[in-house]
Order: sequence, then structure tokens, then C-alpha cells
Amino acid sequence: ADTLGAAAAARGRYFGAAVAANRLGESQYVTVLNREFTSVTPENEMKWDATEPSRGSFSFGNADRIVNHARGRGMSIRGHALVWHSQLPGWVSGLSATDLRSAMNNHITTLMRRWQGQIHSWDVVNEAFEDGSSGARRNSVFQQRLGNGYIEEAFRTARAADPSAKLCYNDYNIEDANAAKTRAVYNMVRDFKQRGVPIDCVGLQSHFNAQSPVPANFQQTIAQFAALGVDVQITELDIEGSGQTQATNYRNAVNACLAVSRCTGITVWGIPDHYSWRASGTPLLFDGSYNKKPAYYAVLEALNGS
Ligand code: G3I
Repeated sequence: ADTLGAAAAARGRYFGAAVAANRLGESQYVTVLNREFTSVTPENEMKWDATEPSRGSFSFGNADRIVNHARGRGMSIRGHALVWHSQLPGWVSGLSATDLRSAMNNHITTLMRRWQGQIHSWDVVNEAFEDGSSGARRNSVFQQRLGNGYIEEAFRTARAADPSAKLCYNDYNIEDANAAKTRAVYNMVRDFKQRGVPIDCVGLQSHFNAQSPVPANFQQTIAQFAALGVDVQITELDIEGSGQTQATNYRNAVNACLAVSRCTGITVWGIPDHYSWRASGTPLLFDGSYNKKPAYYAVLEALNGS
């Protein structure tokens, strides 16, 4: 196949990109999006600050723009992200425990019902664990006010809101099975599966750079999560670097997913380098003129099995 999406489809997987609503009027951007990708993730438009800027008052315009674009072209959609400490409007952190619990559940339910049946996977809880060696829960407002049970509660609420969506826990720096953070997430998912808490997938964000390169055990990490009985998705892939070094790293990351049958799809966190969240850098598959980079060809070859 000669596009990322078609090549991934031949392997039974989607290949997605994070998309920004305010780029959908740019013809080169849309041309590459429509040609190469079979799934989209709104980069910011479904986050809490964008969708519920004041309590109980929802705004879906920019998210709808992306959803409508995707649905009109048969692309599937990843929902990102329902419960996250970042990009959280100020009113949320001022709530009492009782009010925060009801605001969290109302936020999950309202967003999931809005696009019920249209989102293949939702990041229900995002980045709930600390970096470093502690393996601890991040000290977010949710953790502070609601305690350990908030993650489980969010997943139960999500299942009730849209039973057709896969429910994911999504995080970064959980790509190395030996890292404390990875172990902590693994233990949580194992506990959820044992106790029947509804969880269907783990999202490995996979933001790689010189400090956190693609780990040599990436495939084993994916396989270990999958063995718990959940799907794995590479949800926000980008890799700092350039040329053949970057291309090799991308190839290794894609091959790690392809080697595990329950690794069901890959999303890159943007299309051309100049729209990456990494202000300086060239972590994506297309350059500033939308030329295909060596990394693009490495990914395509990996997907084609060549
Ligand atoms: O919406 C305002 C806009 O009104 C204003 O004019 C503009 C001026 O700077 O800022 C806009 O908000 C920015 C927003 O992106 C939309 O462009 C924020 O300042 C900026 O902080 C925000 O960055 C996003 C970041 O998440 C925030 O945490 C990035 O685009 C987005 O790529 C990034 O994505 C995260 C994932 O959600 C979770 N995992 C890590 C990943 C990378 O950080």
C-alpha cells in the first residue's frame, strides 16, 4: 500500500494523527490528513477547558468540526481526554469533594453522550501517575479531593455513558516495562481487570526524545499490558531527531506494535513538524513543506512488512 492508513489497514490497524480544528481550512494540511490517515484525535478540542469552560455550560464547536470532518471521510475518532489535571478550567479546582465528584461524572457523561457511538476509543483518565521512581499517583485535584477511587469511578461512569466506546487509560513514560511508573500503571490495570472495573485499553503516548528514547523493551511492554486482557494503542507518537536515526526509531516503534496482535492502532501527535507541540524540533513524519521525511518512509515500509 502507498499510504500509512492503507498500509496499516492491511495489518488490521488504524493509523491516526492528532488534528487541530483551526488547521482544517489549510489545503495542504487537509490533503495530507485525508490521504494518509484513518483515525483522528482532537489535539485540544475535547479537553475540559475547551468543552466546559464554566460549570454546566458546554461548547462543542471546535470538537464537532473535527468529528464532522472525520466522519465525512470514514475516519474513526479517538476521544481525548475526559479526566486530566491539565487544561482544566479554574472553576474545577475550587469545588468541594461532593461537587467535584458530580462535576467529573457529569463532564464524562455529557461528552460521551454527545458523540455516542462515534468515538472508537476514549482516554477516560489521562496522566494520573507521577514521574520518577515513586510509582505514586499524581497529586491532582481529583486525587486530593476524591482519593484513589476517582479513576475507577471515572471508568464506571464512562461505561454507562457510551457502552460502545473502548475505555482507555493514557499516559507517557510508561513505554519501558521496568520503569516504576509503568509498573504502577500495570498494577492498576491488573487490579481493574481482576475486580471487573471496566477498562479496555492502555494508551502509551510514546513521546520520545534523547532523554527518553524508544526503549529496547518497548515490544515487551506492549505485550505485557496486552496479556492483562486489554488492547494497547500508541496514542501520541512523536520522536525527536532527524534523518536516518529518527527513521530507525520510528521503524522500531511501529514494529513493536505490529508484533503484538492486541496493539490495535498508532496515532502520531501532529502532521507537519511546524505544528508539533514541541516548539522547536522536528519530531513528526512530514516537514514544514509537507514533504515525506525519511521517518515517513520507514513507517510505511514497516507497515508494509518490507
Ligand atoms: O487556546 C489558546 C488560544 O486561545 C491562545 O490564543 C493560544 C496562545 O498561545 O493558546 C491557546 O492554547 C494553547 C493550546 O495548546 C491550543 O493551541 C495552550 O496555550 C497550549 O498550552 C496548548 O498546548 C497543548 C498541550 O497539550 C497542553 O497541555 C498542545 O497543543 C497539545 O499538543 C498537548 O498535547 C498533550 C496531550 O494532550 C497529552 N499528552 C501530552 C501532549 C503533549 O504535551
